[in-house]
Amino acid sequence: MLGGRFLELITAIKGRRAVRRFREEPISLEHLKKILEAGIWAPSGSNIQAWEFILVTDKENIEKIKLISPGLFDNPQALIVLCINKKRAEKGGRLGENTALMDISMAAQNMMLLAYSLGIGSCPVVSFNKTAIRELLNIPEHVDPVLILSFGYPKFWPKAPRRRPLKEVVHVEEYGKHFEG
Ligand SMILES: Cc1cc2nc3c(=O)[nH]c(=O)nc-3n(C[C@H](O)[C@H](O)[C@H](O)COP(=O)(O)O)c2cc1C
Repeated sequence: MLGGRFLELITAIKGRRAVRRFREEPISLEHLKKILEAGIWAPSGSNIQAWEFILVTDKENIEKIKLISPGLFDNPQALIVLCINKKRAEKGGRLGENTALMDISMAAQNMMLLAYSLGIGSCPVVSFNKTAIRELLNIPEHVDPVLILSFGYPKFWPKAPRRRPLKEVVHVEEYGKHFEG
């Protein structure tokens, strides 16, 4: 059914951008809570939810994290460090950690889309020093930080980088038979 809701969602999906320039304007705790809540409502393999989210809003902490994160730009007002709880992930057996990484990715997208719906920009960041962040945030051995999301009100919304078109990416019934729809 192509109702109004679908249109709103596709607009958010297409409109969200990786934002790397932020205004000096704090994000309310209420909004941060909404973003975090969107994260825990992501699907997860066997509903194991082997994720831990570390919210960082303290300016000094953010500065310290920036020093050990080459992929983290400008002055985000909040960071969420998404981690895999390896003890929990073990419940998923041999594929547990792999699945947990997928789960985290889905939680991250939920958070970024919810943020976008509130006018808040975000950027996923994998380029950071794990050992250093572990020490800075007191992360125990069985918890693995895998992704940082930065948040803030954008100075501007960047232009959308090009997407590979459907007809190139989608294969119908078998690999190589491209989508012409
Ligand atoms: C798993 C992942 C890791 C990323 N790591 C970084 C990063 O370390 N630094 C950064 O500035 N952007 C990072 N990005 C953002 C991408 O560069 C960006 O999403 C991509 O260019 C598409 O742009 P868009 O998000 O505006 O559509 C990452 C994105 C993903 C999904």
